Amino acid sequence: MESRFALAQSVAREAGVLVRSLLGTDIEVRSKDVRSNLVTEADTRAEALIRATIATSFPADAVLAEEGGASGDPRSGRWIIDPLDGTTNYAHGYRCFCVSIAYEHEDAVRFGCVYDPMADEMYTAQQGEGARCNGAPIHVSSCEELQAALLVTGFPAHRVADPRANLAPLADFMTITRAIRRDGSAALDLCYVACGRFDGFWESGLHAWDVAAGSLIVEEAGGTVSDYRGRAMPLDADQLLASNGRLHRPMLDVLAPYA
Ligand code: IPD
Ligand code: CA
Ligand code: CA
Repeated sequence: MESRFALAQSVAREAGVLVRSLLGTDIEVRSKDVRSNLVTEADTRAEALIRATIATSFPADAVLAEEGGASGDPRSGRWIIDPLDGTTNYAHGYRCFCVSIAYEHEDAVRFGCVYDPMADEMYTAQQGEGARCNGAPIHVSSCEELQAALLVTGFPAHRVADPRANLAPLADFMTITRAIRRDGSAALDLCYVACGRFDGFWESGLHAWDVAAGSLIVEEAGGTVSDYRGRAMPLDADQLLASNGRLHRPMLDVLAPYA
């Protein structure tokens, strides 16, 4: 496991540096299916780099990655990769995006790393070992009241038929919290919950590659991750709530009508 964890961090950094070097250059950007669901040459080149690096060191490992899909037999361990989370931000030059890599074995995510190349922040967690940012331990916030909370959410680019579905929860949270942000990178949203910059995060319509690494990082930082009903989250569950733990119950109460 240790050698895979080390490889994940080095290739996440390498992919992040690649993505950063292509930012603002004349690369191809196209819509995958709907206008809000973009893919750029940076996504595909970063994924190719990560896949090739894993294949060289661990040729038998299975991979699930956003752009290329699934390969290999997941029963013997699986890498879950979002080569560029925050593609819309990236395509518009808004500097909030990251590379997310997790490793799942026997139905549990064993480690995750998320690299933000603009801030040079590497978030990591190994199951049972706590969470870190650039090697230093991180913890969720101690906020105990929604009135004092800074929350973050997202609006899915695809999968959910109607993105307006999140407008009602958004309005509910806006009236009772300090403020809400919408940053456009679910993996980084989770890491910001893990290090206490945000107190909670909710979004529906996410995929395993958006949340596999970040969810472990939140849990290992002392936070809680569930679906909108408070149940343990399968990686492909439709509705995700992550919080500092203290705010989990109050956030579940707000989300209950939408669960
Ligand atoms: C997207 C981001 C965004 C979230 C979308 C995701 P992508 O991932 O995580 O924050 O709101 O639902 O699809 O497409 O940039 O990798
Ligand atoms: Ca993503
Ligand atoms: Ca992506």
